[in-house]
Amino acid sequence: MSEPDDTPELWARLERLRSVFLARESSTTPAPAYWKDDADLEAYDQTFARRIAAKWDAVLDPIEDELRRLGVKSWFDWGCGSAVASERLFERQLLEKSFLWDHSQLARAYAARKLKTLGLNDAEALDRDRVSYAGSGVLLSHVLNEMSPGEMGRLLDRLGTAEVVIWVEAGSRLTSRKLSECRNILLRKNWGFHLWSPCPHSAACGMITQPEREQDWCHFFATAPGEFHQSGFWREFSRRVGVDLRALPFSVLVLAKTPRTGSVDAEAHRIVGTPRTYKGYLKLQSCHGREGVQEYILPQRVDKKLFKKLSDPPTMSLASFKLDEEKKKIVAGELK
Ligand SMILES: C[S@@+](CC[C@H](N)C(=O)[O-])C[C@H]1O[C@@H](n2cnc3c(N)ncnc32)[C@H](O)[C@@H]1O
Repeated sequence: MSEPDDTPELWARLERLRSVFLARESSTTPAPAYWKDDADLEAYDQTFARRIAAKWDAVLDPIEDELRRLGVKSWFDWGCGSAVASERLFERQLLEKSFLWDHSQLARAYAARKLKTLGLNDAEALDRDRVSYAGSGVLLSHVLNEMSPGEMGRLLDRLGTAEVVIWVEAGSRLTSRKLSECRNILLRKNWGFHLWSPCPHSAACGMITQPEREQDWCHFFATAPGEFHQSGFWREFSRRVGVDLRALPFSVLVLAKTPRTGSVDAEAHRIVGTPRTYKGYLKLQSCHGREGVQEYILPQRVDKKLFKKLSDPPTMSLASFKLDEEKKKIVAGELK
């Protein structure tokens, strides 16, 4: 991972971008194009986008083989920025053609140049968004906070034409709940999408439909690359820009017109967030087709090995649980 030169100009750029992104979290108006020049995109690509790359890797790891079997080669990178989403798929040889769309002309051009430098010959900066994505996949990454409801509605209508949609967002409560709403809308439209991730069911999302989950949100944590812990540059980035480099929370939605081959076990629980450990027990939240989103307790004495595994489970773990009669405690279980 190459690090940018540590100059006052770099920090000024990154601090400006950070304040733009923070302001977006609470804004309901569409974002103006905020990239000022190529150096903005370069600075973003070497810093913020490296956190986002780790989130894409966490999403792609468990579905890579199935995506390869699907054989979708061309992908629209919508709101591409510096094209980190295309980059991660290209790196895994899952992408041969990238259509780059961003309302910033600077971003489209930067993204196409960057992908070509990485060795992708077929990277096309689009002059306008397409009305159909038929035969292709669509990549969406950290764009939800930047669109007006009208733009979002138009985008959701067009996503129905895609073969696959892979959508990764920041794991904040508001953004994640918006993504859950988008999921429900896309499924209600009956375009024939199958849910690949993260839900182990295709009923409406419990985070939205269960009133007691109003304060909760569907999110996971990606593993931070080693450099984030080892390098002085990344420590300075974290301090100046105010981001925690250990926690890489994300939300995700993967839909495809083809069902997953190793279809997800209908009895599986998707572990949401991270379990919290206390003396002698842990609490976790999981999502399940019949039970919805619920909190469970696992006393350590029930199964010490399971307790240990669930104290720090791999990202986006699926588990099977046997529950007590009240459905509050886990009495047996295993990680899938
Ligand atoms: C936070 S950046 C994320 C960039 C990239 N997808 C990533 O994950 O690193 C959001 C991008 O969406 C673009 N964008 C915002 N609103 C848009 C819109 N209405 N149409 C197209 N692009 C938009 C911005 O210009 C910006 O490049």
